[in-house]
Amino acid sequence: MSTAELDHLVTSAVTLGSATMKALVYHGPGKFAWENKQRPAIQNTGDAIVRVTTSTICGTDLHILKGDLPAVADGRILGHEGIGIVEQIGAGVSEFHVGDKVIISCVTACLKCDFCKRSMYSHCRHGGWILGYTLDGTQAEYVRIPQADGSLYHFPAGADEEAMVMLSDILPTGFECGVLNGRVKPGDTVAIVGAGPVGLAVLLTAQFYSPAAIFMIDLDDNRLAVARKFGATNLINSSNGHAARQVMELTDGAGVDVAIEVVGLPATFEICQSIVAAGGRIANVGVHGKPVELHMEKLWDRNISLTTRLVDTVTTPMLLKVVRSGKLQPSKLVTHRFAMDDILKAYDTFGNAAKEGALKVVLTNKAPH
Ligand SMILES: NC(=O)c1ccc[n+]([C@@H]2O[C@H](COP(=O)([O-])OP(=O)(O)OC[C@H]3O[C@@H](n4cnc5c(N)ncnc54)[C@H](O)[C@@H]3O)[C@@H](O)[C@H]2O)c1
Ligand SMILES: [Zn+2]
Ligand SMILES: [Zn+2]
Repeated sequence: MSTAELDHLVTSAVTLGSATMKALVYHGPGKFAWENKQRPAIQNTGDAIVRVTTSTICGTDLHILKGDLPAVADGRILGHEGIGIVEQIGAGVSEFHVGDKVIISCVTACLKCDFCKRSMYSHCRHGGWILGYTLDGTQAEYVRIPQADGSLYHFPAGADEEAMVMLSDILPTGFECGVLNGRVKPGDTVAIVGAGPVGLAVLLTAQFYSPAAIFMIDLDDNRLAVARKFGATNLINSSNGHAARQVMELTDGAGVDVAIEVVGLPATFEICQSIVAAGGRIANVGVHGKPVELHMEKLWDRNISLTTRLVDTVTTPMLLKVVRSGKLQPSKLVTHRFAMDDILKAYDTFGNAAKEGALKVVLTNKAPH
């Protein structure tokens, strides 16, 4: 064996044996760091270890950093969206093999429990939303995916990673929690409160049903301008506190058929309650960290319905087909790209979205040497 070959073998052994990796670790509200962590290993037969190639940051990660989700423990690796390559599988994984490129779903599903059988993967007895929440997540070099057969999707050959990573969370969330729960119909008037990536995913997928008007409400003119390009018919900047009044004027006092809350604040939930038409629906998507007031004194006789939902990701296979067809182009939501090593800068950019003109920020891991 030549010296070069020997060197190569030693390097490979070191790489394989390397027990640490870099990851974005949460240390309590407002505190997080890019630091060394133990590389994940197979713990159960249904697990897969995935080398993360692409990830991104969600509004929910910002809620975690604000302390809105106290179930997140000190030391947790954040992130619930990603694309990667399967590195290792447990003996019970049958649908995925080492080397497969996969889309990681933000929701883990065993496909067997009573909730999964009701298509409510979000409350799976052996999973649900755990990734980057109660289990280490995808803003790292490697991630352990439990129940891999139900929680991964094959990455279509030749597809665009930036488009596909939007299937991990924001597209199914916008569609299921906003559009399906809001029962958007042809001819409806729809208001979407919050023009972040999830609000824009609601906007994109609501158009499957040809609503007559879509009002987009946000504080950020840049995000509103993007919403216009994506099909919003009316833009309302709510920073003057008059959003509800403007919607009522635009609808001749009737209000909207569907009001979709995609922020997670008392003020934005309040707007939805003020603008919902008689017979209308309020679909809540936003993660709330504080109580909101429910105005039953005004709503009791309005024949409305109110829904909440944690994304189930049951529509992911359908949405994947629509994205593949080019009819839905979620990669247009990407405004910034960072190496995973620069994730702190990426958080800074996404956390100051209005100033930075940011929507989705894409994070890419370097290929291993
Ligand atoms: N239910 C679910 O399963 C689920 C899944 C994913 C995300 N979410 C939630 O969806 C929400 C949106 O996620 P995102 O990634 O788009 O977040 P984001 O933080 O990027 O977007 C939130 C938007 O709300 C706007 N906003 C803030 N305060 C406002 C106000 N007072 N009036 C009007 N607009 C206001 C901001 O300008 C921003 O554009 C978050 O609460 C997130 O946690 C829920
Ligand atoms: Zn999310
Ligand atoms: Zn289950």
